[in-house]
Amino acid sequence: MSVLSLVVLISGGGSNLRALLEAQADAEFPARIVAVGSDNDAEGLAHAEEFGIPSFTVVPTSFASRAEWGAALLEQIQIFTPDLVVCAGFMRILPPGVVAALSPNLINTHPALLPAFPGAHAVRDALAAGATQTGVTVHVVDEGVDTGPIIFQQAVDVLPGDTEPELHERIKAVERQLLVAAVLDIANNRVDLRELSTK
Ligand code: GRF
Repeated sequence: MSVLSLVVLISGGGSNLRALLEAQADAEFPARIVAVGSDNDAEGLAHAEEFGIPSFTVVPTSFASRAEWGAALLEQIQIFTPDLVVCAGFMRILPPGVVAALSPNLINTHPALLPAFPGAHAVRDALAAGATQTGVTVHVVDEGVDTGPIIFQQAVDVLPGDTEPELHERIKAVERQLLVAAVLDIANNRVDLRELSTK
C-alpha cells in the first residue's frame, strides 16, 4: 500500500494537526505529513517543529489581492507535491484558483453538522440557535464555503449551560478522531474523493 503524502494547513493551536502527527508516529499509518502551512505565525507550527516537519507561512496581508495570496500559498503547497491537502483549523477561504488546482484532493474539518452552521463561527452559531445537538463534518473543499461533498460526520450533544469553549473542546475531541479516520480511509481507498465529488 502506498503512503499518502499530506500537507496540513492551520491557523491556530493545531490540535487536529497534532492528532495527525501522533497518528503517523505509528509506522502502520498509511499517511505522512510532508509539510505544514499557515496564514500566520500560528501556535500550531510548534507541533510541526517538534515532529521535524517543514513548515511555511503565507500571510494574506503581504499580498495585494486574495488571488495573489492564493497563488503564493499554492506555490508553497506544490513544492511538496502532496497527494492530499488537509485544512485543519485553517481560517481562510481558499481562492477559486487554489481549489481548482487541488480539489478533490483537498479536505476540511468543520465543527458543525453541515449544512448546518457553515462559516467561521459554527460553534457560537449553534449555541445561539439553541441547538441541542451539533457535531463535526469532514468534507471535500469545493468552490463554496463549507459546501463540498461530505466524507464523515459525527454528532456531539450540546449540554445545558455549555459555553462556546466548553462545547468546542468536546467537538474537537471528536473532530480529531474523525479527521484521522478520514485520512486513513482515503489512504486505504475506502473513500474515493473523485467519486464523491462527481456525485
Ligand atoms: C477546529 O475545531 C476546526 O474545525 C475549526 O477551528 C478548530 C481548530 O482547532 N475551524 P485546532 O487548531 O486544530 O486545535
